Amino acid sequence: MQVKKAIIPAAGLGTRFLPATKAMPKEMLPIVDKPTIEYIVEEAIKSGIEDIIIVTGKGKRAIEDHFDNSFELEESLVRKEKFDLLERVKESANVDIHYIRQKEPNGLGHAIWCARKFIANEPFAVLLGDDIVQSETPCLKQLINEFNTIQSSIIGVQQVPEHDTHRYGIIDPSTNDGRRYEVSKFVEKPKQGTAPSNLAIIGRYILTPKIFDFLEEHTIGSGGEIQLTDAIEKLNRIEKVYGYEFEGDRYDVGEKLGFIQTTIEIGLTRDDLKEPLLNYLKKLVKEYE
Ligand code: UTP
Repeated sequence: MQVKKAIIPAAGLGTRFLPATKAMPKEMLPIVDKPTIEYIVEEAIKSGIEDIIIVTGKGKRAIEDHFDNSFELEESLVRKEKFDLLERVKESANVDIHYIRQKEPNGLGHAIWCARKFIANEPFAVLLGDDIVQSETPCLKQLINEFNTIQSSIIGVQQVPEHDTHRYGIIDPSTNDGRRYEVSKFVEKPKQGTAPSNLAIIGRYILTPKIFDFLEEHTIGSGGEIQLTDAIEKLNRIEKVYGYEFEGDRYDVGEKLGFIQTTIEIGLTRDDLKEPLLNYLKKLVKEYE
């Protein structure tokens, strides 16, 4: 079966970014000139996804408005003959996106469960609303390519520093075939010093619909939330869930340092910004040395 649908959960509270996220969704934080979530939607489309559902919640209207037509703005840009900007504004309204609300932010597993009727009975992708991956082949496409061979759930992983493992879902790999790992255990946020490896689950998943049987149980896990990793651990006991160490640089935009790093690195990929930004960074380094 082909993966054609994707869920982007974006209903979290974004507490690590308060007070900026008090009235604005963290998924709308701009990286240079585009909201974070637009980079993620673009990755999904480049990976061949045809239907996207965004799980939103209280205070997340800006996401829906962003992917909608903005008639007054478009009219004004036409009048001012700002056709470049007009194109860019229209781009974000060109994708067909569905929305569902998670009434309470009960955790990532619960957010995915909220989208179960949209997925029905086919394999689907999940892209977290605040993780950007820059890579030659889009990260999700790499996972879909693997899925097409193995027809089994597969989760994007990357190595993280030992001292950071307690912040992630971590896999306990048993064997590997190149970048693909068989997994004996999935653990959400292991206590410091107890992680079975430093391979962390990073914001990209392909799952079979069987996962909903376990999300349905609404088991409360780490942090008092319904965790997707816990349901994946149960799924792995009845059908294989693989880990795949994808190629690319990943940025956690939902965290302060990650946000600043993403802004700089993506700024450096823009032709109009690269030189002045690099000069500014060099000047800063000299000043601080
Ligand atoms: P995070 O844990 O990074 O998001 O969840 P958060 O809870 O908003 O952030 P902090 O920890 O309070 O700063 C990863 C993704 O899952 C979504 C978030 O919006 C984010 O994109 N999420 C999380 C939901 O949709 N619902 C939830 O209940 C929790």
